[in-house]
Formats: sequence, C-alpha cells, structure tokens
Amino acid sequence: MNDTHLAGIEACVFDAYGTLFDFNSAASAASDELGEDWQRLSDLWRQKQLQYTWLRGLAARHADFWQVTADALDYALAALAIDRPGLRTRLLELYLHLGCYPEVSETLRRLRAGGLKLAILSNGTPAMLAAVVSHCGLTEVFDAVLSVEEVGVFKPNPAVYRLACDRLGIAPEANCFLSSNAWDAYSAKAFGLRVVWCNRFGQPPERIPATPDCEVAELAALPAIVLPARTG
Ligand code: LAC
Repeated sequence: MNDTHLAGIEACVFDAYGTLFDFNSAASAASDELGEDWQRLSDLWRQKQLQYTWLRGLAARHADFWQVTADALDYALAALAIDRPGLRTRLLELYLHLGCYPEVSETLRRLRAGGLKLAILSNGTPAMLAAVVSHCGLTEVFDAVLSVEEVGVFKPNPAVYRLACDRLGIAPEANCFLSSNAWDAYSAKAFGLRVVWCNRFGQPPERIPATPDCEVAELAALPAIVLPARTG
C-alpha cells in the first residue's frame, strides 16, 4: 500500500506506451508466427525505439515516432534474423491497436468522476495515439491527447513537459504526471511536475536528477493518492 497523498492536483497526465498501453501486446499477438521469439523481439523493439528517440534528440535529427517505431522494428527483426513475408506490416498495424493494461479504464473513470482533468502526453504521433485510444474505448475519457509533434522533439526535452502545462492551462505543481518509464517519470519531476512513477516492471531507482513524489506498482492506486481525501 502507498499512503502518500498529493494535495492540490487538478489534472493527471499520462505517458502512453508502457503506462496505459501494453507495447508487448503487438508482438504477443503475432506469436503464432514468432513463436518463443516474440518476447525477445518485443524487448529489443522497445529498447531500440527508445534509444532512437534519445539519439535523435541529442543529434537534433527529429523524425516522428511512427518512423522511429518502424526503424526500431527493422533493427530488431534483423538482429534476430527474422524474415517472414508480411510480418513487418502486421506488427506495425498491431502497434496501432495495442491493448491497455487491465486497471486502466476503471482507474481513468474514477479520476474523471473525482473531477480531475485527464490527458495523455506521449512521444506518439497524433495518428498513432488516436488509433490506440479509440481501439481501447477511451476517446471520451481524455480532455487532451498531446503529442510531442507539437514541439518537434522527444521526451525528456523539457519543452514536452511544458506543453502539458500550457495546453491544459494548469500550473506544473497541480499536474500529476504518470509514467512507467522511469527516465520519463524522473525527467518530468526535474521539470517541476508532480510525479507518480508507475513501476510496473519492478525496476530499481534511476540515478538521474529528481526523484518522483511516489511509486506505485500499477495505476489502481492512483485515485487514493491524487483525489481529495474524502473522495479518494
Ligand atoms: C511515450 C513513450 C515514452 O508514450 O512511452 O511517450
């Protein structure tokens, strides 16, 4: 149990991939073709996808997340010597229709009923995010679905976290950011947001600036942390 309570929160802002949406569900859905390799492919695809966002940011060579996701998949398929006709196209299509984690829908509805604004803040392109939000039946739940494409640079550039405050019109300290990506959670905290690290994968603390306000294992713990005490 987490007994932290964050007072004065007006909005919850969620990372998308790994936090709301299960990036493993793409390769897993193609396990009929990938067999036991599906998890290795999924792990490498995700690792390379994130590395490419950081490298492109450092090199000031932005390309959108759809391009980066396809490039990372190409790398992972080549590294594992997987070459099956149509599989690349199938996996990319599946990435638009990821499943969400089991507690997501109910948790979002509780937060909304508690009076909070809800938003996504993601590296994903607007088209990628619209597709997965719609697939998971969450279109009506969010006040804003924000893509880094508005600022033209990936996380963890501070311009991304500023975008959420600007677009919601809510001060950093009244925004609670949620991410299962530890580097994203720490970076949002360094910017000045309040942060709950959804440590789904049981990782140790990062050794980078700023420690999140608290840590939970999954999102169901969130309403008690951010809603006013009497409704949480
Ligand atoms: C995102 C990645 C970092 O949704 O998961 O921004």
